[in-house]
Parts: sequence; structure tokens; C-alpha cells
Amino acid sequence: MALNDHFLWGSATASYQCEGAWDLDEKAESNWDRYLHVNGLENGDVASDFYHHYEEDIRMLSEGGQNAFRFSLSWPRIISDIDGTINPKGLDFYHRVIDTCLRYNVEPFVTLYHWDLPQYLEDEGGWLNRKTCDAYLHFAEVCFKEFSGKVKYWTTFNEPRWTIFNGYLIGNYCPGHHNAQETTVGAYHIMLAHAMAVNLFRKKQIEGKIGIVHSYTPVDGVDDRPETLKAMRYADNYCNNWVLDVAAKGEIPEDLLDALSEKGIDLSFMKEEDLQQIRKARVDFLGLNYYSRALIKPYTEGETTLIINNKGKAAKGTSKTILKGWFEQIKDPNSEYTEWDTEIYPKGLYDGLLRAQERYGLPMFITENGVGMYEDVSGYVEDDYRISFMNDHINAIINAVDDGADVRGYFAWSTFDLYSWKNGCEKRYGLVAIDFNDPELERRPKKSYQWYKKVADSNGACIVRKSY
Ligand code: BG6
Repeated sequence: MALNDHFLWGSATASYQCEGAWDLDEKAESNWDRYLHVNGLENGDVASDFYHHYEEDIRMLSEGGQNAFRFSLSWPRIISDIDGTINPKGLDFYHRVIDTCLRYNVEPFVTLYHWDLPQYLEDEGGWLNRKTCDAYLHFAEVCFKEFSGKVKYWTTFNEPRWTIFNGYLIGNYCPGHHNAQETTVGAYHIMLAHAMAVNLFRKKQIEGKIGIVHSYTPVDGVDDRPETLKAMRYADNYCNNWVLDVAAKGEIPEDLLDALSEKGIDLSFMKEEDLQQIRKARVDFLGLNYYSRALIKPYTEGETTLIINNKGKAAKGTSKTILKGWFEQIKDPNSEYTEWDTEIYPKGLYDGLLRAQERYGLPMFITENGVGMYEDVSGYVEDDYRISFMNDHINAIINAVDDGADVRGYFAWSTFDLYSWKNGCEKRYGLVAIDFNDPELERRPKKSYQWYKKVADSNGACIVRKSY
């Protein structure tokens, strides 16, 4: 058992998914506010109302044995308009959140951007506009200046992959586009903005560590034929390398750029001055969100097809990933899948950690891991399936640490029930239940909350160990 004594045992949230108070205290509108309102979809206007419950939530987290809390800062709550005007009420809210963490000996682990872009920037093209990078740098600078000294762990972005792919390619997130050229431009700008913030962090000598959070999808192949290995490389570039190679090594994979050019993507928007920023920006650590791996076979036929199941059991089995000419993702007949088609595969975390260790050699945090379920929250929630899921994934981490991976912390997704993008509030991940029909939004610990306390208190010693 090799977890270090300072291991962070925490849980995670994101501003839009939990805060509510969408138009309170001079908060500007976000792209998600606009998109969900205009399309008449379930939204996060109230969500878990963390804005008014933060004190209770952080106290409960601490009483649950956790020593770290990952949350994001809402950009439109902090910066009011396109001129960069600072909203003191937004800053005050996050000071109170951070101070509450510190009062309870909980390490604040801060994400600068977890997908809620100010609508005034979306109106100007969002991540397709280079100016959004400059606006992000201003936002980052305000936050560094304001909260440094209190915050030791910073991450620039949560999951560039999903916000960009879902927003510009798959079209199930705002702004809902389907355009490969835009996807490439958006991906480039978000990684450039990341690099600009890391470079600023170094220049200003901000105390603490800075990283990025990636939706890590370790890639496995159906066999080891050369064509499968080639398909796996395409899949790895698509899923992981354009984020991790850039953040950890300052490199955009050359063969990815070649493959994009072959597909007719115009890369002339890439500028030497930007690449210089990217080359010199190196993170201190990697934040890896792990939900599942990707099982890959060579491309056979058909158009690019990208379907994500945001409907749960009504659409179970409909998700599909085919990248024409590159690869196909398939289901493993021996695996269990959630109602939203996510494979439950703890070994992928073990494999992925060892691969990332070898490739990047950086400290790692599992910044999200959890399972989304339908749950009856009218009584005590005995979520044994979540306990088993978390046990097996924490076990995978301990095995990886035993075999040389430098993992420094684990964050359960999520601290309490919250809004799940496009899936709504009924897809529950929380360690604490919230009945969204209850006007008081009372918090009630699930069985997993008590179980996780024992894990944290014992620094993982009570995990049921399994080997592969
Ligand atoms: C991650 C995100 O992709 O997974 C979270 O960082 C998200 O914001 C979580 O909620 C679970 O995904 P979903 O789609 O089930 O909410």
C-alpha cells in the first residue's frame, strides 16, 4: 500500500452544474444559460443551489473525511462584460468558498474554466475567435491575483476535448455545431489559451502548482495487427494526445496535423508566435478524469458517425463513434455498460496511469471518477453499486501506484447530486443526495458518503484489493 500521507481525498463539482443563481449579484449570462433557455431544455438555473448552500456543502465534505474540494470559477460571474470589467460580488463569492474550505482544512483545487463561457464572448464567435484567448488570459490573471496565497492547486481548463468536440463536431453541447474545421480551430484556441495562462502563471511567479484536466480515455485495440495499431494511434491522437502532449510536452502531434490536412482541414490559422507560447508552457501536473477507456478496431466503412447517448435508458446502446478513415470504437461484449452507454472498466485506469506515467513522467491527480445512475432519493440511498465502482477504481489507482505511477489524489465525481450536461439532474453522481423537487434542496448523505469517509480516513487501506 503505497499512497503518500498527503494524498488528496476529495470530490468535485463545476460552477454551472451546481451553483444556480444564474442571474444573481450581477452575474453575466453564460453560453449554457442562453443555449438551454433558447432550446427550452432542462437547465442549471437553480441546480444544487451551491451559491447559497456552499458552507453546508463544504462542512459536509469535510465531515465526510475529505481533505480537498475541486470546483470551478464561473467566468461570467467574475468578468461582467467584453471590456473585462470585474464584478466584485463574483470575487467575493469565491473568496467565501475558498475561505470556508480553508476553515475546514480542505484544500481548494480550482478549475478556471469548466465550460461556462460568457455569452458576450460566444456572441463574438466563442472559441473560434482568437480574442477569446486574450479574454481568458485577463480572466486568469484576475483570478491568480485575487486568490493566490489561498489556492495552491490551479487547473486552466476542464476537459478541452468534450467542450470542443461536443460543441463544434458532435453538436450536443452549445453552440451545437457540426463542423470539423471549426472543431480544429476551437481546439487550437483552447490549448493556446491554456498555454498563455501557464506562461503567465510562471511569469508572475504565482505560488502553487498549475495543471490541466483532461477527459482521459486510454486506448485499447482489439488485437495487435499493424492496422489495429495504426487505428489506435489515430484514436489516441483524437482522444488524448492533442491535449496531453501539448500540456505536458509543448508538442502538437505531427501525425495528427498531417491527418487533419489529409482530411482537408485548413491549418493556416496556426501562427508561429502561438506555437512559441505552446512550446514553452509545461504543466506541473496532469488532472485526469477517468470514466472509461476506448476499445478500437480499424476503420471499415461508412461516414463519420458520432452519437452520444444523452437520453439514458431510453437510448441505451445507441452511441457510436466512427471516424472515417481513422478508427471505429466498439463495445466489449464482456463488459458492463451504464444506461448512458459508459463502459465500466477499472483496469483501463490502471493501464492508463502507467502509460501516462511512462509518456509524461508528471505527478497525476484523478480529478473526476464516478458513475451516473438513476436513483430514488426519497429515502436513504444505499448506493452499493457506486461503492463497488469506486472501490474498484481506487484499487486500480493503488495497483498503479504500486507499479510506479505518481498519483497524488483522487476526486469523486460528484460531491453531491448536480446537473449533468444535457442529461439533466436525474443522472446522479453525488455522494450526497439532493431531491431537486424539494424547495429546500436538503442534503442527505448516501451510503457511499459514509463509505468514502472510511477510505479517506484509512488513506485507502480499507479498499478491497484485486489484482489483474
Ligand atoms: C466530465 C465533466 O466529462 O464528466 C463533468 O467534467 C461531467 O462536467 C462528468 O458532468 C460526467 O459526465 P455527464 O455527461 O454524465 O454529466
